[in-house]
Amino acid sequence: MSIRIKGTGSALPLKTVTNNELSRFVDTTDEWIIERTGIESRHIATGETVDMLAGEAAWKALLDAGVDADKIDLIIVATCSAEQALPCIACQVQKHIGAVNAVAFDINAACAGFLFAMNTADAYISGGIYNNALIIGAEVLSNIVNWSDRTTCILFGDGAGAVYFEKDDRPLKFIQKSNGFKDDVLFCWQRDSVSVFYRGVQTYKYVTMDGREVFRFATRVVSETINELLSNEGLTADDIDLFILHQANLRIIESISKRLGVDMSKFPTNVERLGNTSSASIPLLVDEVRKEGRLKEGMRIVLSGFGAGLTYSACLMEL
Ligand code: COA
Repeated sequence: MSIRIKGTGSALPLKTVTNNELSRFVDTTDEWIIERTGIESRHIATGETVDMLAGEAAWKALLDAGVDADKIDLIIVATCSAEQALPCIACQVQKHIGAVNAVAFDINAACAGFLFAMNTADAYISGGIYNNALIIGAEVLSNIVNWSDRTTCILFGDGAGAVYFEKDDRPLKFIQKSNGFKDDVLFCWQRDSVSVFYRGVQTYKYVTMDGREVFRFATRVVSETINELLSNEGLTADDIDLFILHQANLRIIESISKRLGVDMSKFPTNVERLGNTSSASIPLLVDEVRKEGRLKEGMRIVLSGFGAGLTYSACLMEL
């Protein structure tokens, strides 16, 4: 038993911010950002919240699938930038779309979150507990980046993507891994303590990153994990029609394509227009390529994400 894509949807904040706009308040240039990251612009929230974007993407995915909200069994939202601690965003989505019969909860595995959520849904559905799931990646990272740090604020964007899955019997395989010992290369201590007993010092309230280390980690583990996943199934990278990777940086994607020995034409990208939207990047790209008609019956695709934790995952899916 496994799960199959039945509908997809996206939501982006209205405001687009170009590199030139960023260069007005941090010491950077359009040329530097494009050369080092491939990013030209990103959508930034000016009032949109994680639950609003998640709800809109979810609603569009259901519309696309032609499914009524009261038929949904499970809603999982992957996010690391929710404005609210309680209740979880998935419960907010349940309310927004009227999914009265769904069980709803959030997962935080940073930029690998969507795949961790998808793997969780697959386990529930393959275990016979639920028949379908609405999986959403949603972020307003602009709330947690330091807008005076040119090394990080240029990278991220806001948005949400949703995929509605139903039970199926086509092959679906996952590898997911975590390395909490590397928690110091990418982190954010988001909240101020309000405890009267708290005596610690509140620092690192923004996304803090060792960019070079993350770059090295991503290029190595993603290609290794994809190769491991494929060799487990007796496949090679040549057997795959499309690689839908977390959109962190165009150079990372190009390096992975080189390491796998696969032409970049099999790696669709939207990082140029959306920046790194963390857990939203994979479902946003899935929605985009699906609407472009690039996902066809019988294709084999690989999805792969990596992020803070460190966490990383790869998924092999037959359409
Ligand atoms: N504009 C202009 N100059 C910048 C800059 C910016 N936005 N950000 C950094 N610089 C400068 C640095 O200060 C440094 O200057 P120096 O040589 O005078 O010290 C120089 O550019 C090179 O910095 P470096 O950090 O070595 O650049 P890089 O080639 O490693 O690129 C990243 C930086 C962040 C783009 C790159 O490391 C990266 O993409 N890492 C992965 C990040 C990521 O994807 N994170 C999310 C994972 S989910």
